[in-house]
Amino acid sequence: MKQYNCLICKSVVKEFISFGKMPIANGFLSKDQFKKEYFFNLRVGFCSKCAMVQLLEFVDREKMFHENYAFYSSTSTQMAIHFKEFANDVMRRSINKDQFVVEIGSNDGIMLKHFAEKEIKHLGIEPSSNVAKIAIDNGINTITEFFDEKVADKIIRKYGKVDFFLGANVMCHISYIHSVIAGVKKLLKPKGLLIFEDPYLGDIVEKISYDQIYDEHSLFFSITSIRNLVRMHGLELVDAIHQETHGGSMRYIIGHKDEHKIKSSITKWLLRERKLGLGETKTYNKLRKNIEKSRKDLVSILVKIKKQNKRVVGYAATSKSTTITNYCGIDSNLIEFISDTTPIKQGKFSPGTHIPVKPYEEFKDNYPDYAVLFAWNHSKEIMAKEKEFMKKGGKWITFAPAPVKIS
Ligand code: SAH
Ligand code: TMP
Ligand code: ZN
Repeated sequence: MKQYNCLICKSVVKEFISFGKMPIANGFLSKDQFKKEYFFNLRVGFCSKCAMVQLLEFVDREKMFHENYAFYSSTSTQMAIHFKEFANDVMRRSINKDQFVVEIGSNDGIMLKHFAEKEIKHLGIEPSSNVAKIAIDNGINTITEFFDEKVADKIIRKYGKVDFFLGANVMCHISYIHSVIAGVKKLLKPKGLLIFEDPYLGDIVEKISYDQIYDEHSLFFSITSIRNLVRMHGLELVDAIHQETHGGSMRYIIGHKDEHKIKSSITKWLLRERKLGLGETKTYNKLRKNIEKSRKDLVSILVKIKKQNKRVVGYAATSKSTTITNYCGIDSNLIEFISDTTPIKQGKFSPGTHIPVKPYEEFKDNYPDYAVLFAWNHSKEIMAKEKEFMKKGGKWITFAPAPVKIS
């Protein structure tokens, strides 16, 4: 059997779950593309040496991030508020007037626009040209590239060193993470900070939110693994702040070694992670069993409803829904269509299982009996918006946070 080495520390990594063949999670497609659809093996392993949970096989970055990238950050008002607060958090930390802020994965400019508005020197690095164009058209300085150590050298030559290097839901996408962190190490001024956030492994384990596992998410971070990773580059984790976004995320604040006081939050989180067993193989074997049970429960609910001839639709064609539908074998026999507010997804079909994706109006104008809440991470925003659906007797089917239930 092929041996896999840890992306971070090179030790042997053991697989704990395989989801089988999976398509590109954000690869919504038209009928004529069905035949040449790309699939890869979605397999996940745990490194018991550095505690990093990671994919074992990776999809080429150009297959995921390109001129037709389907994820537009600004589709969620909740996320727009979140990124305003993120920007404010960064601004509060600034010590000098002439600061330079860099963000990778800046997408349509949802966060950087707050720096641009205040005329703060900024640079977005966003390889998906369709979303980058929106930012550029709105006056946000953006380059269409994949960030790595070479790009860092270019930035230093052209713009100088950086006070804040930011990222949201992007670091965990990058399998060549060492090149990224090496680049950040070079770029940061002596007191500069790397501040980024990503879905938190602790939440995934506790909520059994296995829909976070798909091609784009190469790495699943914890305080323990991030601390190990940045140490390898002469950097230090100085603070960590939990976030409610994406079903539970962690914001990591990192500086050059010995340049900042380490907050007590780090010890607190390390202790919690030890209690949760994030550094132990048995935790992940248990997670696999929990995932298998979640699949069984969801499928049996959908099959039962189908027998009653009730209508079920999916609510929001999220990238996460690709893992659920493919792993559970849910196609248009069980879910009539998925409604989504993103124009680029509408009229297309879901990756792998080819469920039609329809505009939100199709849901609103003809409520189904049940809706599978694929965008459970936006649940607050959606529950506030869908009072009418519930008033008319509509029910939600949810799978995360576990257990699978109808409410
Ligand atoms: N930060 C936004 C977007 C997250 S999606 C948000 O949280 O809503 C991830 C983004 O990272 C995509 O837009 C993708 O094109 C970009 N990306 C992927 N690899 C990258 C890299 N190496 N450097 C910079 N951006 C990258
Ligand atoms: P995300 O879970 O990766 O943030 O993706 C959100 C997707 O959900 C995006 O395609 C837009 C869609 N969506 C809706 O269709 N309706 C909604 O109310 C919300 C919040 C999101
Ligand atoms: Zn490792």
